[in-house]
Amino acid sequence: MKEKPQPKLFTPFKLKSIVLRNRIAVPPMCQYLSEEGMPNDWHITHYAQFARGGAGLVIVEATAVSPEGRITPGCLGIWNDEQMEKHQDIALAIKKAGASPGIQIAHAGRKANSNIPWEGNDHIPEGHANSWEIIAPSDIPFGRALSKVPREMSINDIQCVTKDFVSAAKRSLEAGYEWLELHFAHGYLAQSFFSSHTNKRTDEYGVDVKGRSRFLLEILKAVREVWPDHLPLTARFGVLEFDGNDEQTVIETIELVKEFKIIGLDLLNVSLGFTIAETDIPWGPAFMAPIAVRIRNETGLPVASAWGFGEPDLAEKAIQNEELDIVMIGKAHLANPHWTFYAALKLGLDKPSWVLPVSYAYWLEKYNV
Ligand SMILES: Cc1cc2nc3c(=O)[nH]c(=O)nc-3n(C[C@H](O)[C@H](O)[C@H](O)COP(=O)(O)O)c2cc1C
Repeated sequence: MKEKPQPKLFTPFKLKSIVLRNRIAVPPMCQYLSEEGMPNDWHITHYAQFARGGAGLVIVEATAVSPEGRITPGCLGIWNDEQMEKHQDIALAIKKAGASPGIQIAHAGRKANSNIPWEGNDHIPEGHANSWEIIAPSDIPFGRALSKVPREMSINDIQCVTKDFVSAAKRSLEAGYEWLELHFAHGYLAQSFFSSHTNKRTDEYGVDVKGRSRFLLEILKAVREVWPDHLPLTARFGVLEFDGNDEQTVIETIELVKEFKIIGLDLLNVSLGFTIAETDIPWGPAFMAPIAVRIRNETGLPVASAWGFGEPDLAEKAIQNEELDIVMIGKAHLANPHWTFYAALKLGLDKPSWVLPVSYAYWLEKYNV
């Protein structure tokens, strides 16, 4: 009997020494359920459920490299050993359930010190017990509800944050994560150094694209030195803003990503800038695919992307057409942690390889219900 074609979404993906069982990843998604940056039992069960559901890679939410780098007081951290030890439980739970455990390490820059979304999503006012000083390349506030004016970073601040990224990378390794993602996207600190909207510096960390790239390159270089060569080092980067100047931004991005590649970046998670409030984003299913494939083709670096791939057909198409190497499925996983299994059924996968589908398939075959 002729075998029916099998979905490519379920083919393994190898990056350095890590082999993902399929091309499905859970992107980092903040939970806002931490105190003082400490992981707790919620985080263990929350992240393990996606691995149990069959995803190949589970990336833990934006995890701050310092207390001031948290987006909100509820964000996770990895700036001390106590946090690191609890992260060991998360990484192990993901790993035991068959997925590769990843973590995104981050500094929120001028978007730090916000209230958690369901408590306003705005900046915590000065004088409040949870208020802290925020820092950025220049003293320009994001605007709207994020109105706090950041302090322009000194060279010493820049060096301190770079060291914080290095310490966080070391702790991530000790915690058992095997896939590291640097958060260079979404208008947080690194992205705001790259953007000419937010970086008005006149020193070597500003002025032109070379200067605006320096901070990101320095972090990557410093982290690459401590993150083992056999494990994937990746970054999430906002490759455009939808601000009307996108061709220029994409050209600058491609040059920067080529430099990332020379330093040793292994994959780019292609995302948006979110540096400014006024943008015209063409939200829609898989809308980032065309730009992701351009980055992939012009830099030769493997790419992942999120944003609207939650329908299995779209995810499969992105892999089949070689637009992406990995598809990130975010909100659809929050709605259904067994999304991978749902996709396997929908796309007609013959032999699911992970635990639940095997028993499910057996039941289906035996009783046809
Ligand atoms: C609740 C929530 C929290 C998020 N937190 C993060 C985060 O910590 N880091 C990040 O890079 N993106 C974050 N994102 C963006 C997601 O990673 C993803 O890009 C977005 O949900 C779009 O993908 P989707 O259409 O599959 O949901 C978050 C999204 C949601 C819904």
